[in-house]
Amino acid sequence: MKNDFYKYQAQTTPHPLALEISHAEGSYIYDTSGKKHLDFVAGVSACTLGHCHPRVVSAIKNQVDKYLHVMVYGEYIQEPAVELAKLLSENLPKNLNTTYLVNSGTEAIEGSLKLARRATGRTQILYANNAYHGNTMGSMSVMGFEERKNAFKPLVPDCFPVDFNNEQDLQKITSETAAIILETIQGGAGFIQPENDYLKKVRQRCDETGTLLILDEIQPGFGRTGKLFAFEHFGIVPDILVMGKGMGGGLPIGAFTASHEVMALLQDNPKLGHITTFGGNPVIAAAALATLQELTETDIIQQTLEKEKLFRNLLKHPLIKEVRGRGLMLAAMLETPEIASQVILACKEEGLILFWLLFEGRALRITPPLTISNDEIAEGCKLLQIVLNRVK
Ligand SMILES: Cc1ncc(COP(=O)(O)O)c(C=O)c1O
Repeated sequence: MKNDFYKYQAQTTPHPLALEISHAEGSYIYDTSGKKHLDFVAGVSACTLGHCHPRVVSAIKNQVDKYLHVMVYGEYIQEPAVELAKLLSENLPKNLNTTYLVNSGTEAIEGSLKLARRATGRTQILYANNAYHGNTMGSMSVMGFEERKNAFKPLVPDCFPVDFNNEQDLQKITSETAAIILETIQGGAGFIQPENDYLKKVRQRCDETGTLLILDEIQPGFGRTGKLFAFEHFGIVPDILVMGKGMGGGLPIGAFTASHEVMALLQDNPKLGHITTFGGNPVIAAAALATLQELTETDIIQQTLEKEKLFRNLLKHPLIKEVRGRGLMLAAMLETPEIASQVILACKEEGLILFWLLFEGRALRITPPLTISNDEIAEGCKLLQIVLNRVK
């Protein structure tokens, strides 16, 4: 299998981890040699309820027995998609009441950028340095990491950077600006949180200039930071909310949510302003609905903050300089990228899955399933301590 993986499947780096998967359950992934790996990464924040959560699997199986794809998005009334959009609206502020379902995070970002241009009649989009919003052309145009963009230029015009958490830069938001897009907590940059009421100041400047605020919650959303969406920590509400990753409980999905009035602009002038064949797919929507039901009917999200405390207590070691992030979106910061890589690879051998962050090489990504138990947290942190003690 390994040879065929390298030979036939396109690769993203010259050095994939190449763990050969047999099956996965709860907080563990099992490889084909029978070895068990404790998962502190959750498919990069995607497996919110762990692997193969029974409620999600059962929702998928029920739906598979009824119907799969029947029509392009938006034409037919399919219960899982309708119920998902409705439950989201019930759990969001009043202006975020209409959801457009797509297939991935980056596609949801594309939709949000198009919607902002359509709604304002303006073209300029601002984004933050070190931001990551996905890898299609539009999302890359608002990526704040030039080195990764250069090979693919020219990208979408009229997109300009600001510094995250920089109040002065907010003057760049003007009556020419359609939208500013920000991650509520910057992921790839190293789990950087907004400080000094930054998001309130962004909101205020947007209101002054008629600019839309797009918040990308593809990673922090769906409970990961101790609230259903991270913007709830910061006392503001975006005009467009973008989600994905953990929303699908392990299946591919993305969505953007706005007011009914704004979203309606995509259906006319031009008609079919945003279309997708598979967006809102019934099996995937059923999995996302089950995930959202589980999150909103239990105390999993509240427990996230207790689990953060446990992690912070156990992540004490002379090599760990700082633990960044919130809830179960944590980054243990080491001194150099070389040490971080050494630790991630050594942990893999010990049966603990850790991973890198996109633009911050010194970080150990710790984004486990929200369902991880206290014992599993202790077990993983112990393995990490063993590895850290071996670092030269
Ligand atoms: C904050 C953020 N935005 C957008 C994306 C892109 O999502 P996808 O990989 O589903 O296209 C990601 C994925 O890592 C992300 O973390």
